[in-house]
Amino acid sequence: MNNQTQLISQKIVQWYLDNGRHDLPWRHKITPYKIWISEIMLQQTQVKTATPYFKSFIKKYPTQKKLSEASEDQILALWSGLGFYKRARNIFKTKEIIKEKYNNRFPKEFHKLLELPGIGKSTAGAIMTLGYQNPHPILDGNVKRVITRLVNQNLNLIKESELWKLSSQFLNKDNCFAYTQGIMDLGATICTPTNPSCKNCPLQNQCESAFNVTINNKKVSKLKKVIPMNLSLIQTKDSLLLVKNEDSSIWKNLWIPFESRSLKNNASGFKLISSQEIQHELTHRVLNINLNTYLSKRESKIKTNKKYKWIKKDRIDQYGLPKPISKVINEL
Ligand code: ADE
Repeated sequence: MNNQTQLISQKIVQWYLDNGRHDLPWRHKITPYKIWISEIMLQQTQVKTATPYFKSFIKKYPTQKKLSEASEDQILALWSGLGFYKRARNIFKTKEIIKEKYNNRFPKEFHKLLELPGIGKSTAGAIMTLGYQNPHPILDGNVKRVITRLVNQNLNLIKESELWKLSSQFLNKDNCFAYTQGIMDLGATICTPTNPSCKNCPLQNQCESAFNVTINNKKVSKLKKVIPMNLSLIQTKDSLLLVKNEDSSIWKNLWIPFESRSLKNNASGFKLISSQEIQHELTHRVLNINLNTYLSKRESKIKTNKKYKWIKKDRIDQYGLPKPISKVINEL
């Protein structure tokens, strides 16, 4: 694993820990049996649709042993409305094999899983990884999309064997559960088939097609430069300290909070009361604003060559303010 691959892999784990869909029912009280049922349901069905079916299935058949007594009709009844009924019939066949051959113990070996009806290489990989914490690569639709975008390859042209190779390379063996759930969630919520949300993606600096994804050979979004802004909004009880933004092409001549770096030597008498991150999208850029709000006892003088003003809060509507700034001020 080279450094870049390792970084991507670690970032996916961290993103999952911070932002993953931890509330999905198959991510709690995990057993290989429950992972198997969820993976079969999720093969051709979206999470939102599969969730209530999974809950009803597990309520009726919480264990392999309980399922071993079910008839095919009973399993099909629980599948009713979910579609692709071959999956339910395969669950029936598989549980019969597990009863006869493995005494109702779900197999632990990858090659044994592959022999079971309805379980292919990717589903077997998911069961090994999620059910037994034994790292194996997976390759479902979400994973294919995420990894081909990361390396900027066309999903229609790349060979299946190449995709498996990439999937193995990115797999985080030390944290295989979080990694695997993470790459699935990233594909489902950020790296979506159309309009991927590159600006919220933890891999935007590593991804070779970030902000530039091609869908059906058409570029769907222009590269937007991300501009960091550090602003300090200083207020007294009645007024706000704003600067006329005369020399920047963004928000020219609007009134904005001080740029933090031009305030540094003056900031000692101010008490920090809040800190927030704001993303604001312009036509060709994304502003990444870090806004600190301070309280000052009085309308102090500031040493600066900028044109600044203490503006009474009840007169703020007489000044031109950028949208994200006026939103923050309105919420003060
Ligand atoms: N799609 C396939 N397996 C999944 C899982 N375990 N969580 C969310 N989506 C999935």
